[in-house]
Amino acid sequence: MSRVLVLNGPNLRRLGTREPDVYGAQTFDDLVDLCRRTGAELGLRVEVRQTDDEAQMVAWAHEAADERLPVVLNPAAFTHYSYALHDALAQRTAPLIEVHISNPHAREEFRHTSVVSSVATGTIAGFGLNSYVLALHALKTLL
Ligand code: DQA
Repeated sequence: MSRVLVLNGPNLRRLGTREPDVYGAQTFDDLVDLCRRTGAELGLRVEVRQTDDEAQMVAWAHEAADERLPVVLNPAAFTHYSYALHDALAQRTAPLIEVHISNPHAREEFRHTSVVSSVATGTIAGFGLNSYVLALHALKTLL
């Protein structure tokens, strides 16, 4: 069974209480559950993680590169400014799908730039938590 990392950046553990009009009412635990269930259906061993710490996210990108692990990544606010994360992800050795719950292009100007997209296999945004389901399906076709 292929192992897949689902990595989440800052503030995403607060799903459910954080701006529910933008991110919905479902919690981070609901997201973990959804990803695990989708993984089980697809025959993927999904491991969901979240951090508010850029150094931790860079370390996980290194781990994925060293272990040739496919990644679904919601970089959250790191998307828009973290060149350290860009450089870590550029070392990837397996597919990387960038996901967003909201559609950043339909929001404030600063969200229109992603420093991650250029090193991702592809991006899925704007479908709520279903963005992760679509990303896991996309990964499955790539593995
Ligand atoms: C987000 C969009 C980002 O602009 C924002 O900083 C987030 C969440 C999303 O999933 O829609 O934290 O990545």
